[in-house]
Amino acid sequence: MAAGQEGHIVAIMTSLDIDFVRRQFPAFEQENLKGWAFFENAGGSYVCKQVIDRLERYYRETKIQPYAPFPASIRAGEEMDAAHERLAGLLNIRADELSFGPSTSQNTYVLAQAFRQMLHAGDEIIVTNQDHEANTGAWRRLAESGIVVLEWQVDSQTGSLDLVELEKLLSDKTWLVTVPHCSNIVAEFNDVATIADMVHARNARLVVDGVSFAPHGLPDIKATGADIYLFSMYKTFGPHLGAMYIDADLNRQLPNQGHYFNSEYAGKRFTPAGPDHAQISAVNGVVDYYETIYSHHYE
Ligand SMILES: Cc1ncc(COP(=O)(O)O)c(C=O)c1O
Repeated sequence: MAAGQEGHIVAIMTSLDIDFVRRQFPAFEQENLKGWAFFENAGGSYVCKQVIDRLERYYRETKIQPYAPFPASIRAGEEMDAAHERLAGLLNIRADELSFGPSTSQNTYVLAQAFRQMLHAGDEIIVTNQDHEANTGAWRRLAESGIVVLEWQVDSQTGSLDLVELEKLLSDKTWLVTVPHCSNIVAEFNDVATIADMVHARNARLVVDGVSFAPHGLPDIKATGADIYLFSMYKTFGPHLGAMYIDADLNRQLPNQGHYFNSEYAGKRFTPAGPDHAQISAVNGVVDYYETIYSHHYE
């Protein structure tokens, strides 16, 4: 476990009521799924009943334009705001530093367009060959605009990323470094806090892909030092959304990619499409789930 995660996870694991946990996931009661174990990380996790209930309730009771001044619409908006606030609280970030896009790959795609507009030919970015395509392909394509893309390569024997090699690549031309929080190839954590210090010493920015980390325990994002941190809700028991933290200062520096009339809303500047209201509301269910597990074991 990464720093800051150990105590919480270990405390739960020592006394985990596995039957209770399983009862939170309706898929375990499905006849057609019995006898099967799925190890396909790409497909995401089973969805907890709190998310399914929230989703169904939203579609039944509040599937209208949110944030208008009549009761069902007010409730819809409040539920969406609560999802931002509650998840942001678990991640140790502010609600307006959290955006929900369709997926992590789409989020990095949009971010890369914003950086493309801000950077100039000859500016440098560093990507790894340990990353999932989601946190490397969109960035590598910036080379088409003259941006120099350097590759931080894994050790060919261990598959690990060596900080000494990163230091050799960093320079005063570096604008951005991308890295996975943990590798889903060699199953090892990267020391993102140290990487963040190295990157920030060059006044560059760090983008962390936390998709394979977050299912094992939601991160304290501030402690990672990341300027951008991404993970996928559908791999953390939730709806099919990508959660994206963007540091408030960086958010203001980057050009708006959303509707012009949303340019002042930090949480909407990097999600060009209208949000999926029901799914955002259902993010509350992930927090409900964590609270249910916590109170069952500790209260
Ligand atoms: C480590 C990692 N990063 C990113 C992604 C892409 O996430 P999404 O499907 O939300 O685009 C995946 C998908 O499996 C992944 O495993």
